[in-house]
Amino acid sequence: MYKALYRQYRPEVFEEVLGQDHIVRILKNQIATDSTSHAYLFCGTRGTGKTTTARLLAKGLNCLSDGERPCGVCANCQAIKDGNFLDVIEIDAASNNGVDNVRELRESVKYPPSAGRRKVYIIDEVHMLSTEAFNALLKTLEEPPEYVTFILATTEVHKLPATVLSRCMRLDFKRVPESVLIKGMADICAKIGIDVTEDALRIIAANADGSVRDGLSILDQCISGRDMKVDAEEVLEFLGASGYEDFIELTDMVRKKRTEEAIAFLNGILSDGKDVRQFMRDWISHYRNLMMVKFMRNPETVVSMSAENIERMRRQAAVLELEDINRGIMELSTMANEARWSTQPRILLELAIVRLCMGAGQIRELTEVEFTEPEPVPAPAKKASPAKAPEAAVKKAEEPALVKVEEPAPVKAEEPVIETQVKPEAAESAPVEPAPVESALAEMQNGFDCEDIWNKVFEDGENEKGSINIIRNSARLKSIEDRTFTVEANNTFFKDLAEKNRQFIEHLVEKHTGAHRRMNIKLANSNEERSAEEIAAEASDILGIKVEVK
Ligand SMILES: Nc1ncnc2c1ncn2[C@@H]1O[C@H](COP(=O)(O)OP(=O)(O)O)[C@@H](O)[C@H]1O
Ligand SMILES: [Mg+2]
Ligand SMILES: [Zn+2]
Repeated sequence: MYKALYRQYRPEVFEEVLGQDHIVRILKNQIATDSTSHAYLFCGTRGTGKTTTARLLAKGLNCLSDGERPCGVCANCQAIKDGNFLDVIEIDAASNNGVDNVRELRESVKYPPSAGRRKVYIIDEVHMLSTEAFNALLKTLEEPPEYVTFILATTEVHKLPATVLSRCMRLDFKRVPESVLIKGMADICAKIGIDVTEDALRIIAANADGSVRDGLSILDQCISGRDMKVDAEEVLEFLGASGYEDFIELTDMVRKKRTEEAIAFLNGILSDGKDVRQFMRDWISHYRNLMMVKFMRNPETVVSMSAENIERMRRQAAVLELEDINRGIMELSTMANEARWSTQPRILLELAIVRLCMGAGQIRELTEVEFTEPEPVPAPAKKASPAKAPEAAVKKAEEPALVKVEEPAPVKAEEPVIETQVKPEAAESAPVEPAPVESALAEMQNGFDCEDIWNKVFEDGENEKGSINIIRNSARLKSIEDRTFTVEANNTFFKDLAEKNRQFIEHLVEKHTGAHRRMNIKLANSNEERSAEEIAAEASDILGIKVEVK
């Protein structure tokens, strides 16, 4: 019968225990000097070696060797390994949690060891004991017979009563560092005859999150059913994680502000059944690795990647500013955090992509940075849209945005310096007025500065209703008429979002224009992304606003 790797392989001697040197040192010393405690409490995350170490201690206490104990080979060590040594009693508190079980235990404690030197009780998952059972156990812990050693193990030490804690020597098992895990798994593989690449081990270690058992379990599932070979591809396939290539590509699309392409690419990846939350975490790691690669001479030490992959990362890192990397990390971390509570993590990821493509992480900084719409498909449409070229110009001139907001409107009216054929460079060299021509014209209308008002609306709105802020960047105030004002939205999602917030926006516009006006909402671009409906539906969920797409 096939036996899982983590069952098949268990350290037989202390030297084989990974990443718990601080504990191994203490126990080895106590065994050697016959100064072991009567009761131990092993705490720590699952799969870090608590049960393993408990058995090693039990062996050490009963080992027949004159040398290093446990030896792992004497009759007693072997019997304990096979689970048929009478004086080592393992109790799984999860399934034996009643007071009767503990009474039984107390009964059995009365009898001295029959075969070994010491009677060892290993109580696993001890936090599962009922209160009465704890109380019964406590009595035994208080006055254990001379020949008894208790080893309690738990993943949830905070659930134990202080009375138990105070009677045990507590040892905390740590998550095993990746480098130790890699080395350890490589040794295990060599022993068992598994041919595994270093890349594969790195990925496994990164995903085991400090648990040796989880690491072995991943490894196991990558080999079972196949030959005894494991490479990175197989591991990634099993984990459902994306390869570096995907992240390099996606990050590149975001850098080039190709929103539509990036979303489509994401769709492709996710339709393969990849987990959205895992994807977010992996993408964050990618950005983190880019940062390491960008600033470290020898990133190998902190970036768990092959030299080849690091070289590819280096090329990407070279074309990214630290600010871009930082923004990527911040944006995705925020979304990943929110995604934990969301039933629709995917929309958050899509929003993160949209925001990253917009080119700045904080809405406030985005006052005039345009939502980067995908290039309209029919070429003439682009030429026909007068707004398009100036918008592009504005995109490049990110910095002056805030300056402008603070300026009083009359000063601006005096500076309609921007020509119709404004170029990006021109906008850059005129930081005081980076506004597109259209809005410069619009501000003459009725004496209002549309952009200024739009920003003010959202500065107010931000305080009252943070979520509507995403409208600011994806729609703009085009004109203010006597009884109406016109808002142009980038797509139906934002159009609908504006519609849903009509009262709110109208109210704020009134506040800043001095009269009540009705909002007209237009679509800026008829080349609506097909996925808008889906996005809108999902967005309703997240934003808590009902969004309908007509
Ligand atoms: N520190 C470790 N060193 C080596 N192997 C380990 C370690 N921790 C766990 N393992 C592996 O995982 C399996 C389960 O470990 P176990 O000791 O039962 O973990 P825990 O009791 O902490 O949940 C072991 O059989 C072994 O293969
Ligand atoms: Mg255990
Ligand atoms: Zn032995």
